[in-house]
Amino acid sequence: MKSILSLVLLSSLAGVSLGRRPRCRCRPDEPCWPSSADWQALNASIGGALEAVRPVGYVCHDPTYNNASCVSVAKSFTDSAWRASQPGAVQWQNWEALPFRGETCYLESPRDEPCGQGRVSLYSARVRSAADVQVAVRFAKESNVRLAIKSSGHDFVGRSSAPGSLQLLMGRLKNITFYDDYTVRGKCGKPVSLGPAVRVGSGVFLKELYDAVGERNLTVVAGLSHTVAAAGGYVQGGGHSPLGTWKGMAADNVLEFEVVTADGALITANQYQYPDLFWALRGGGGGTFGAVISATLRTFADVPGTRALLYVQTTKGPNSSDSDPVNAALDHFFWQVAEQFHRILPALNDAGGAGYYDVNPDIVQVNGSRVSTLDAALHFYDTVDVQRVMDLAASLAQLGQRANTTGGNPDFYFGVDTFRSTRDLIREYLPGHSDSTGGFVVLGSRLLSRSLLASADGPRRTVEAIRALRSGIKGHVVAGGQVAATAGTSASLNPAWRKTLTHIVIGRTWQATTSVAEQKAIQEDITKRQVPLLKALEPRGGMGAYVNEADAHEVGFQESFWGANYGRLYRLKQRWDPDGLFTVRLGVGSEDWDEFGFCRIR
Ligand SMILES: Cc1cc2nc3c(=O)[nH]c(=O)nc-3n(C[C@H](O)[C@H](O)[C@H](O)COP(=O)(O)OP(=O)(O)OC[C@H]3O[C@@H](n4cnc5c(N)ncnc54)[C@H](O)[C@@H]3O)c2cc1C
Ligand SMILES: *[C@@H]1O[C@H](CO)[C@@H](O)[C@H](O)[C@H]1NC(C)=O
Ligand SMILES: *[C@@H]1O[C@H](CO)[C@@H](O)[C@H](O)[C@H]1NC(C)=O
Ligand SMILES: *[C@@H]1O[C@H](CO)[C@@H](O)[C@H](O)[C@H]1NC(C)=O
Ligand SMILES: *[C@@H]1O[C@H](CO)[C@@H](O)[C@H](O)[C@H]1NC(C)=O
Ligand SMILES: *[C@@H]1O[C@H](CO)[C@@H](O)[C@H](O)[C@H]1NC(C)=O
Ligand SMILES: *[C@@H]1O[C@H](CO)[C@@H](O)[C@H](O)[C@H]1NC(C)=O
Ligand SMILES: *[C@@H]1O[C@H](CO)[C@@H](O)[C@H](O)[C@H]1NC(C)=O
Repeated sequence: MKSILSLVLLSSLAGVSLGRRPRCRCRPDEPCWPSSADWQALNASIGGALEAVRPVGYVCHDPTYNNASCVSVAKSFTDSAWRASQPGAVQWQNWEALPFRGETCYLESPRDEPCGQGRVSLYSARVRSAADVQVAVRFAKESNVRLAIKSSGHDFVGRSSAPGSLQLLMGRLKNITFYDDYTVRGKCGKPVSLGPAVRVGSGVFLKELYDAVGERNLTVVAGLSHTVAAAGGYVQGGGHSPLGTWKGMAADNVLEFEVVTADGALITANQYQYPDLFWALRGGGGGTFGAVISATLRTFADVPGTRALLYVQTTKGPNSSDSDPVNAALDHFFWQVAEQFHRILPALNDAGGAGYYDVNPDIVQVNGSRVSTLDAALHFYDTVDVQRVMDLAASLAQLGQRANTTGGNPDFYFGVDTFRSTRDLIREYLPGHSDSTGGFVVLGSRLLSRSLLASADGPRRTVEAIRALRSGIKGHVVAGGQVAATAGTSASLNPAWRKTLTHIVIGRTWQATTSVAEQKAIQEDITKRQVPLLKALEPRGGMGAYVNEADAHEVGFQESFWGANYGRLYRLKQRWDPDGLFTVRLGVGSEDWDEFGFCRIR
């Protein structure tokens, strides 16, 4: 609560200059706020693309309740493509609201509860060109208005929304252009060819990118979501991918960025032009170094591959106790499989294996029974050697043969097959056109090293920690291979990625009716209990976390998200954006600002 108090105190100083730099951004009730003529002038100079913004739920609350509009909002409410397109929404309702200030506008809450603006921007510029972005950035700079950038709004720690802000909505920048051989100007202006590539505008969603490359029998290193923006926070935070083990992180595969910097200039950053900014944009985090117009990404010829699937399920009888011998046998079997899976992960990953696994213990069913599942899929690209994968996983399959002799009748499946192309694989993962979002979600996470899981005791300790979390986890086996083979300083993304075997993510949710105190308790459980359990697995507080999928209250985020690269990132931030025009929660340099990025605190 201290931070809220200090915001109140500091905001009374808003507009008061300390030296030449205003200490706080302007607020609508202050004389420094742009006049309506100023807003109209901005609107005119971006072709009428400016909108005044209300949270999407406002049509469901008095006095602005409108039945037809509310019904229509409710229909799209969990559709991530719709949320991406709405200036008054992000993907997770918790980042639209400021519940501790009573500013919420949840669809689910009673009609007579007034709609608060919360973290939703006051204006949105739905830019259609780099020139529009330049105009809006200069406007924000000159009028000292807080700026927020949203491509899809998927950010898990609230970076794409900010109270009292002007939003840059990047969704209309949908250009996709292919190059057989992308050429840039190298030293002394000499052309340097960088191979086949695709340039994507920052409004291009991952599924749109996959469709475009797939049509050409190409593939690209990108993530597993329909509507995350390829050139947005995804790649700027590093970008993990099911193809990462094969070809490196998404940020490793960027050849160039077009970016509007804090002074409103449109520049091209690559390994030869503005190499320091190029480095910073490859992992330093979204919304921090400039507004990215496009990213040019390497493309690869598509290939077939091999896939290993593991599925384990145990069911404990309704209301039965863990000390019941059948339940004890089920738990023993379940966690033994989980441990053995982690034990063979280093070898599978060394052989190119990459993919995901979910461990969801003791999910309580309506009839009171508890179901535990472990579900894994690993992919091996450019090989159809099924036998090799079977051999590597032999110990796991053997364990599975004991399922029939374990009390309580657990389900066990392990199998290996092949797929024709990454295009087919991705289509299977991403059917349809959008993700299901709209809820209240916060995460906790840790990158776990290969050396931990290759150590004699590592798999057992890891599984014990997962068990102690009392939450489901998703394990992301998206590193090793080419990620590990790339130097830790070649891009600014967390160097810990180079040593990572699995990125473990805990997801916690709540409802519109959850009290502020309960929300705080959930958040504290993540920060003070769950994340420390994972941190304790490795020396010196562990390897760190992934900036894009992390605890929204990550302790020591600078070290966690960027390790040894942080010092250089901070210096580059001062150089490219000394006034902090681009400030996001838990971003490089954000420690100089209050939690809303509104007032400088040092
Ligand atoms: C369903 C789902 C699946 C996911 N899968 C993966 C995955 O496979 N791999 C992975 O690495 N991550 C994954 N993520 C996490 C994802 O990388 C983050 O949510 C990321 O923040 C999304 O970036 P965005 O630009 O789409 O989102 P936004 O919320 O719009 O932006 C995120 C951050 O980047 C900034 N930003 C956005 N656009 C620009 C721009 N053009 N210029 C400058 N700054 C910008 C924003 O200000 C914000 O700070 C997933 C997330 C979800 C919800
Ligand atoms: C901007 O201009 C367009 C087109 O003239 C108009 O529809 C829109 O309402 C204007 N936006 C604002 C915030 O006034
Ligand atoms: C709102 O509209 C829906 C469908 O259009 C209708 O079924 C419902 O009765 C309406 N509710 C009110 C309060 O008017
Ligand atoms: C998109 O591509 C068209 C045609 O190549 C070009 O004119 C336009 O400037 C591009 N837009 C952006 C935002 O790059
Ligand atoms: C892609 O591959 C398929 C199957 O091999 C082939 O029929 C098709 O012509 C290829 N398309 C392109 C654009 O190369
Ligand atoms: C399990 O417990 C719930 C509530 O505690 C009760 O409603 C239910 O009947 C119980 N089921 C069985 C099979 O005992
Ligand atoms: C309880 O529900 C689960 C699935 O929800 C089912 O598998 C199980 O058979 C049910 N058990 C009983 C005793 O009804
Ligand atoms: C367990 O028994 C069933 C039925 O006899 C059989 O189909 C299945 O293959 C066995 N599972 C394993 C892992 O041996």
